[in-house]
Amino acid sequence: MPIALVTGANSGIGKEVARQLLALGHTVYVAARDETKSRSTVDELGGDSRPMVLDVTDAVSIAAAVGQVERLDILVNNAGINPGGETASETSVDLFRRAYETNVFGLAAVTNAFLPRLRESAHPRIVNVSSGTGSLGWSAGPNPQFDYLRIRGGGAAYRSSKTAVNALTALYSLELADGGIKVNALAPGLRATNLVAAMRDATPEQLAALGVGDPAEAATEAVRLATLADDGPTGTFFSWDGSVAPW
Ligand SMILES: NC(=O)c1ccc[n+]([C@@H]2O[C@H](COP(=O)([O-])OP(=O)(O)OC[C@H]3O[C@@H](n4cnc5c(N)ncnc54)[C@H](OP(=O)(O)O)[C@@H]3O)[C@@H](O)[C@H]2O)c1
Repeated sequence: MPIALVTGANSGIGKEVARQLLALGHTVYVAARDETKSRSTVDELGGDSRPMVLDVTDAVSIAAAVGQVERLDILVNNAGINPGGETASETSVDLFRRAYETNVFGLAAVTNAFLPRLRESAHPRIVNVSSGTGSLGWSAGPNPQFDYLRIRGGGAAYRSSKTAVNALTALYSLELADGGIKVNALAPGLRATNLVAAMRDATPEQLAALGVGDPAEAATEAVRLATLADDGPTGTFFSWDGSVAPW
């Protein structure tokens, strides 16, 4: 059966991706930056789940994680942070750096480190969990997922980091197409997770009023992209409902 690795798999969308891949019978490395969280998630999820410590901002941690894996079929780059902040002019360079360190540089570091393992796979797949908030098309025009964000241009650090994730998705897909490695990005939609404090602390009624959905629904699309057939798409940005989102 395929072997998958999900970064940031101890909570939110990543945990649901791991759960659904396990339900398909895959082996899943439940990567988390905190060992206790990884182990407790493995205990919760069961199946052929395996604990892994992986801080995407730490080169030593990434190298140790690579050493734990002989072959890899699926890499889900899900780990991400939203450091807050407002419009670009109101955002400090330090805040931009924090967002990019995890969401962009971490993703590139993990991808590059695991590529030799992915190249050993017969059907290698990479899924980058991006965000509809990073879509330039949706920032410039109507945004079906987060139209309120367009009005003021808020969340500049997080959103521009996800735009960079989209750019890397397109560039990796071009570079890796000859090796059969499919690289796609996902816009998961607004989900009730730990990512945004206001969502973490909201009541179910408040979440429903905001149109915040279940992380499992977004995970289902990530799993579809992780298990694409060999004639499936690459270099595409998909919304959680399977429609194509604009870069
Ligand atoms: N929720 C939404 O509405 C939404 C919308 C669009 C995109 N997304 C994207 O979905 C992905 C998953 O986020 P989520 O919503 O499921 O939030 P979440 O529950 O906060 O999950 C984020 C995960 O990333 C991990 N992480 C953060 N920094 C890390 C690092 N340096 N190394 C390794 N892991 C790290 C977190 O670990 P800790 O538990 O240790 O902090 C956590 O496991 C993110 O890329 C996010 O940008 C979410």
